[in-house]
Amino acid sequence: MYTIKELQQIVSDLFQQEQFLAEPATLYEPIDYTLSLGGKRVRPLLLLASCQLFGGNLDQAKGAALGIETFHNFTLLHDDLMDQSPIRRGRPTVYRKWSPNTAILSGDTMFSLAWRYFLRQPHPLLHAILNTFNETTIEITEGQQYDMDFESRNDVTTDEYLNMIRLKTAVLLACALKLGALYANATPFNQETVYQFGIHLGLAFQLQDDLLDAYGDVATFGKQTGTDICDNKKTYLYLQALATANEQQRQTLTQLYATKPADSQAKVAQILDIYRQLDIKQSTERLIAQEFDKALHLLDQIEASPSAKQPLFDMAQQLLHRNS
Ligand code: IPE
Ligand code: IPE
Ligand code: MG
Ligand code: MG
Ligand code: MG
Repeated sequence: MYTIKELQQIVSDLFQQEQFLAEPATLYEPIDYTLSLGGKRVRPLLLLASCQLFGGNLDQAKGAALGIETFHNFTLLHDDLMDQSPIRRGRPTVYRKWSPNTAILSGDTMFSLAWRYFLRQPHPLLHAILNTFNETTIEITEGQQYDMDFESRNDVTTDEYLNMIRLKTAVLLACALKLGALYANATPFNQETVYQFGIHLGLAFQLQDDLLDAYGDVATFGKQTGTDICDNKKTYLYLQALATANEQQRQTLTQLYATKPADSQAKVAQILDIYRQLDIKQSTERLIAQEFDKALHLLDQIEASPSAKQPLFDMAQQLLHRNS
């Protein structure tokens, strides 16, 4: 049984062994830049940890681990262009360092490279594996579209927000876990329960990303903060502020969220000040804790020994306390 630290090393080695550079360099250099920069590698880790939990052979699942992370990194290239984000993992984003066209095309290539990784290793359940992956990728595009649509809507509900983050973020974490279960030939009950564990972990993960976008330290977070406010993103923070604001605060919030000023520093400061008055950080942390508890309850229900669940439990704890 590998610890989460050992699994992290396995994932890191997996990426080090791959060669991402090819011709034309203008297409592949941004791919190499992105995939070599690392990041937390959450999704391949979840995939391998789930495969191990259900007694699978990790070697058989390594192509899928590479594939799911390559796909995730593709979504980031397009997401940074859509969100106009200048930095990721402490470095300029691909569309800024190269161009929007580069982010589009290198991203598209990474989506296909992801499929190539999945297809690299045969498996008796490959059809179910690819179907799960493909359905998830469609859900993510739906989530991303809601996220963009919500920027210009001012009647978004908390339920709509939760559905949006389920689609854009949680389903990929859940998919990684289910794929690990499929590689290990787990029972349908365990496949479904580990998937639902991933959904709640993923909701907590995105809520925390939204929190870090407002309160994170740029150097450790690796991304510019305040971008959700600049983009008028309907995050839980914003919706909760609206729901608890007095009339004057509500007017300020909606007026500020009706514009995208070139210099947004003043706007970010004003919104953060209202969040402070309304204890928004605390209420977001409470919801994160609730989702995290739901996730742990589901982990508990999985039919496996407590010691086999330990790496996933440790990983969930790490994610809960992350600052990057
Ligand atoms: C960023 O994902 C996009 C979200 C779903 C919040 P991660 O926070 O996993 O990014 P990296 O891969 O570690 O950089
Ligand atoms: C991104 O959500 C979700 C996907 C990339 C599918 P965000 O837009 O909040 O992610 P970051 O903060 O840019 O990493
Ligand atoms: Mg973004
Ligand atoms: Mg986004
Ligand atoms: Mg974010």
